Amino acid sequence: MTPDDLMFKPGLMAGQRVLITGGGTGLGKVMAEACLMLGAVVYICGRRGQILEAAAQELMEAHDGRCVPMACDIRVPEAISDMLDAIWADGGPLTGLVNNAAGNFISRTEDLSTRGFDAIANIVFRGSFYMTLDCGKRWLAEGTQASVISILTTWVWNGSPFTVPSAMSKAGLNAMTQSLAVEWGGRGVRFNAIAPGPFPTEGMSARLNPGAQERAYSDMSHNPMNRVGEMAELANLAVYLLAPGSEYVNGQTIAIDGAAYQATGGNFAGLRAWSEEQWDQVKQMIRATNEKDRAQRTV
Ligand code: HXC
Ligand code: NAP
Repeated sequence: MTPDDLMFKPGLMAGQRVLITGGGTGLGKVMAEACLMLGAVVYICGRRGQILEAAAQELMEAHDGRCVPMACDIRVPEAISDMLDAIWADGGPLTGLVNNAAGNFISRTEDLSTRGFDAIANIVFRGSFYMTLDCGKRWLAEGTQASVISILTTWVWNGSPFTVPSAMSKAGLNAMTQSLAVEWGGRGVRFNAIAPGPFPTEGMSARLNPGAQERAYSDMSHNPMNRVGEMAELANLAVYLLAPGSEYVNGQTIAIDGAAYQATGGNFAGLRAWSEEQWDQVKQMIRATNEKDRAQRTV
């Protein structure tokens, strides 16, 4: 991104300290880039240490500033606590948290094992809550003003067949956003969420459109805007919710999907037509991606 891609004045995020989970790839990396460009100190975490280090290096070479890679598995509460101790010791409290890390894959629900459900729910539902709780306890004890945003999907409003563990987990985080906005809003910690439509990323496409990535986005005529989202559009919304000046926005989940949700439901209902063979093929492709990524994990 260049400064012209962003809507904001230079230095808007100076003095802000933001942690973005899953910030080494995809949408997390884009939000990290925007915060860095606007002057924040940015921490990015994930399980693949080298991916994080490369991302941090790339962003700092492009924009200067400080982006710190932290290998951390958000499914492990003790690992979260150690990471937050290190961040707090490295210049003080965070002022922003972006719950962006997620796991997802398409599958017929009857093909899931309980471990398959847990693989997603433990990252999205539990991991994001553990992260929010640990940060929240610190902020409330210190009286720090902070903004939390969670990256959800429009399925929080209508569910999504074939991604049921994700839809259930994201809906849980939507409830967290609304609940804690009220419980902690008056004590300086506000909560909002973003529900993106399709923003092609490697991690998402390999698990939600395996083998058909290019075809899947070449015809977007079902979307009222006839296109996928642009990364800078997402980054602008995230910065708005994190930055000083939007403090009275609290408890909201904002879709950024070109009105796909209103037009089509924005979910995977169309996969009802798939054959047994299609599902088998897709399962193999997703498992290959999962194995490749797992081999790169350092925590
Ligand atoms: C059925 C499957 C499966 C599949 C895995 N499993 N793939 N079951 N169909 N296609 C089952 C496995 O068989 C196993 O159960 C269980 O899930 C755990 O699998 P592991 O590979 O051991 O899991 P793990 O290493 O913990 O990896 C977690 C993961 C992986 C979620 C499966 O994909 C991951 O780490 N993803 C992170 C990145 C990611 O998913 N990004 C996409 C975000 S996009 P058994 O019983 O066999 O042991 C997104 C977009 C939403 O969220 C909105 C778009 C519009
Ligand atoms: P992505 O690149 O696969 O991002 C997922 C990130 O989460 C990865 O960096 C991954 O890193 C990290 N992660 C997963 N499990 C983790 C764990 N246990 N601990 C720490 N980090 C973990 O996919 P994306 O498309 O950018 O998705 C980002 C967010 O946007 C997700 O919440 C997704 O649901 C949401 N979203 C995306 C779209 C879209 O169109 N792209 C649409 C709607 C919502 P490691 O594997 O290294 O841990």
